[in-house]
Amino acid sequence: MSGKRKILVTNALPYANGSLHLGHMVGYIQADIWVRLQKMLGNTCLYICGSDCHGTPIMIQAEKLGIAPETLIENMRQDHEKDFADFHIGFDNYYTTHSQENRQLVETIFKRHMNAGNIVKRTIKQLYDPVKNMFLPDRYIKGECPNCGAKDQYGDNCEVCGATYLPTDLKNPFSTLSGVQPVEKESEHYFFKLQNYEDFLKQWTRRGHLQAQVTNKLDEWFNDGLREWDISRDAPYFGFAIPGEKNKYFYVWLDAPVGYMASFLNLCERNKDLRFEDFWGPESQAELYHFIGKDIIYFHALFWPAMLHGAQFRTPSAIFANGFLTIDGQKMSKSRGTFIKARTYLQNLNPEYLRYYFAAKLSDRIEDLDIHFDDFTQRINSDLVGKFINIASRCASFINKHFGGKLSARCAEQLLYDDFANAGDSISECFQNMEYSHAVRQIMALADRANQYVDEKKPWALIKDANKQQEVHDVCSMGINLFRILMIYLKPVLPQTAGQAESFLRVPPLQWQDKNKPLLDHPIHEFQPLIHRIDPKQIEAMKMAAKQDIEKSTAQASAPTVEPVQTKEKEFISIDDFNKIDLRIAQVLEAESVEGADKLLRLKVDLGSETRQIFAGIKSSYQPEQLIGRQVVIVANLAPRKMRFGLSEGMVIVASGSEDGRLYIVSPENGAQPGMKVK
Ligand code: 2FM
Ligand code: ZN
Repeated sequence: MSGKRKILVTNALPYANGSLHLGHMVGYIQADIWVRLQKMLGNTCLYICGSDCHGTPIMIQAEKLGIAPETLIENMRQDHEKDFADFHIGFDNYYTTHSQENRQLVETIFKRHMNAGNIVKRTIKQLYDPVKNMFLPDRYIKGECPNCGAKDQYGDNCEVCGATYLPTDLKNPFSTLSGVQPVEKESEHYFFKLQNYEDFLKQWTRRGHLQAQVTNKLDEWFNDGLREWDISRDAPYFGFAIPGEKNKYFYVWLDAPVGYMASFLNLCERNKDLRFEDFWGPESQAELYHFIGKDIIYFHALFWPAMLHGAQFRTPSAIFANGFLTIDGQKMSKSRGTFIKARTYLQNLNPEYLRYYFAAKLSDRIEDLDIHFDDFTQRINSDLVGKFINIASRCASFINKHFGGKLSARCAEQLLYDDFANAGDSISECFQNMEYSHAVRQIMALADRANQYVDEKKPWALIKDANKQQEVHDVCSMGINLFRILMIYLKPVLPQTAGQAESFLRVPPLQWQDKNKPLLDHPIHEFQPLIHRIDPKQIEAMKMAAKQDIEKSTAQASAPTVEPVQTKEKEFISIDDFNKIDLRIAQVLEAESVEGADKLLRLKVDLGSETRQIFAGIKSSYQPEQLIGRQVVIVANLAPRKMRFGLSEGMVIVASGSEDGRLYIVSPENGAQPGMKVK
């Protein structure tokens, strides 16, 4: 293998149970730019990723879709791989944690730690769903906040008052999978004794492997004390079974980072020039960098180095954490319609716009990055089209029309050229230090200078003077050469444009050192516009498509939100409270499915003195025709709700909580009449 440095780069492995969105793309674009730069510098830089395939959410999602988890993860892997490729994320390998390589590596690491006494077994109590017959991760438990009493809060924190607590502290807890009250149950678990690595980690985290902000955060964790980490889960679980155990699996976060090694091992199996040991062995001289989101620092900066070190593998050279994406200053949100899938973006806009915009804003700090779409449009149109591409487009036509498509044999402004070429060191240093916004600022300042140069020389005026033909040739050739240097600097950010520019310039793939020598007496092709201006209509179309995605996914959510079916301590209501509810007999006049809503039927009911329209979530249990003519009980004084499909003017009473999720309409005895009060 050639190259000065040997580098392995990874990006966090995305979960294989949902589509990628623009928030994901921040870290991947950041790492891809870094890797492309290293490759252009002539270093050996391998870039690894893959799907994170295990865990309860993947098992539940597959169950919801009625497919095997293996099918779900393979479908998602393919979707993700396509999204990444279309954003020009150039992985050298995109693999999966559900692989033989990963299983073997996880078992090796586990056994080495077992033998070293770093893993212990202990019995703990956890909440268990007696209907689904499974232990419940926190996110599948809801209940009332123990602090403020807010209903429908998740098992670990309250969205209303911000309190954090244990799922066992929730009042009236219920499983969101079945609706029943969870019970406490004992089970034996495996724990990784992270505290055995306290001294090692305290040193490791202060040796320049981490951003300063991360080191500070870790100090807080050290002060709180390192705790044992539960690395096992009970069946049912989608993951790797723990050797020697029947119904216990490795927790997904144990095998996920090992997936980096597995993806690399898989690459080694296909590329015999690569040796796994050279990159992961304890004596490895290669560099290893993990790009991650700021939410998973704990796993990567504490557990992961400890796991590797204790199992005789090398530890990372550095971990780079990025912030989250905000849109118009706020968290991406389905309700605000700002949750944009990677694919939806791609269907409407050029991926390089986003790559450039991110590059123009990214720094080495863990800061959230905001897309403001007016600023986005303005920035692309002014920087990329108005400044950068403009240099080539205004010079190329003269070369092609008047000089046989050949650049001049001399460099007209050697000093200017040298200034541009010399700036390359500082630009490459900024990219290498993750200060992309500084790099982009320098590149755009050079683009301004190149345009100024052409403006001052005015080739469009000179061309009219028969004595100035050589000067026009020199000036426009100079312009093309300055454009070429800028293209070299932007190539890590704009790989597709670079490819097109290489064919326009009739040169092999541009390398960083190509900046040092201008193209002289060299033929070029006709110029084709390389990047187009953004029409604000494209942004509107994307936003509209994102809203439609959200509506579609809401309507398709096949599992109804499960309500609690039973509460531990009954809270009583007064007779006055009960009297507030106006329950009435109603007769179904019409019933039909609602297009675009999996769960809903539209009913028209007769209430004696009036008719009402009600959208009822009972489609899973009733065919519309079964209901026509039937008497039901409705809540007649429920405030009308405006739904996407129309106004819902009441609620049909059903019995719920059966094991199979079937709902049962409550109906009166024969003889009841529409409009009668139920009490
Ligand atoms: O947080 C996540 O999306 C995880 N799937 C990242 C895993 S990174 C690595 F450890 F595999
Ligand atoms: Zn609360």
